[in-house]
Amino acid sequence: MTVKKTILITGATAGIGRHAALELARRGHHVIATGRRQDALDSLSRESAGTKLDVMRLDVTDAQSIAKALVEVEELTCGRGIDVLINNAGYGQMGPIELVSDAEVRRQYDTNVFGLLAVTRAFLPMLRAKGAARIVNVSSIGGRVTFPLMGVYNSTKYAVESLSDALRNELAPWGIQVSLLEPGPIKTEFGDRAMDGISHLRDTTSPYAPVVARADEMAKQFESSSYGPGTTTRALVHAVESRRARIRYVAPFTAGILLWLTAIVPTRWMDAVMRRLTGLTPRAIAAAAPNAPRLASSSAA
Ligand SMILES: NC(=O)c1ccc[n+]([C@@H]2O[C@H](COP(=O)([O-])OP(=O)(O)OC[C@H]3O[C@@H](n4cnc5c(N)ncnc54)[C@H](OP(=O)(O)O)[C@@H]3O)[C@@H](O)[C@H]2O)c1
Repeated sequence: MTVKKTILITGATAGIGRHAALELARRGHHVIATGRRQDALDSLSRESAGTKLDVMRLDVTDAQSIAKALVEVEELTCGRGIDVLINNAGYGQMGPIELVSDAEVRRQYDTNVFGLLAVTRAFLPMLRAKGAARIVNVSSIGGRVTFPLMGVYNSTKYAVESLSDALRNELAPWGIQVSLLEPGPIKTEFGDRAMDGISHLRDTTSPYAPVVARADEMAKQFESSSYGPGTTTRALVHAVESRRARIRYVAPFTAGILLWLTAIVPTRWMDAVMRRLTGLTPRAIAAAAPNAPRLASSSAA
């Protein structure tokens, strides 16, 4: 029989985190589902009626909010603390690296990297005291492959991968297992939020305008090839309940094909495919905007 655990999930007001929170609670675990939007937390609370799910406000970028959550978790669990921390909160800042503002880059790192670090550090003494605790960090296949227009986001997930690899060894002496969840395209609010982030670049006269315009097409393809969050939830359930959690969970497993391809196909070939797909060829840019500054000789398309 699976031992029931107390699990704190960040970013549980939507998408992957919300779906996993409900399923883990249905399976009998005590879930502390956190996020920023109170209305979404209230709706989650209503939907989870009959299970042991508590909601709590937690903004991972706000030190005071983290400190407050730590105290509330102590009280809620009568000092017993949590067994599992799932660092899921995050979003995707899209855009050509040249055009993403410093403020946008910082905000992206504040949430996806510094937020994850701050929450982990705050809850580590509690996890260590439990013994045999677990941490699951939600990365992305974009933490192992970089896509054009997603460089800023992908770099945060590369950081999450590296931090998790270090934590796995640093925390092993206390029996804390550290896993990474690497989702491929999953149907959540992620895609729309990412596209919102580049809407202001659409009507610019920047050299990337045609590429940004093409991002709509890419977003449709992303949407049509997306899987439901059931696939990430199955991986999270395994990471929580199995005797020995895996180091990396790629979900859906078909996303692993891309990782495998990037390992065996020469990088220049992969680059050529990605540039064609995103319209980042001199010919595609010239065709879409004849007067836009060229990125390279159009004969090289
Ligand atoms: N969907 C995909 O295709 C995909 C692919 C690879 C990786 N991922 C990763 O999966 C994770 C979950 O994303 P999702 O797809 O479920 O997206 P989503 O539906 O947009 O959900 C994102 C969650 O993160 C929360 N969040 C954002 N900023 C936060 C902050 N400062 N503090 C606390 N919570 C915050 C949001 O809650 P509030 O706004 O209420 O705070 C929301 O609950 C992210 O780390 C994302 O990078 C997603």
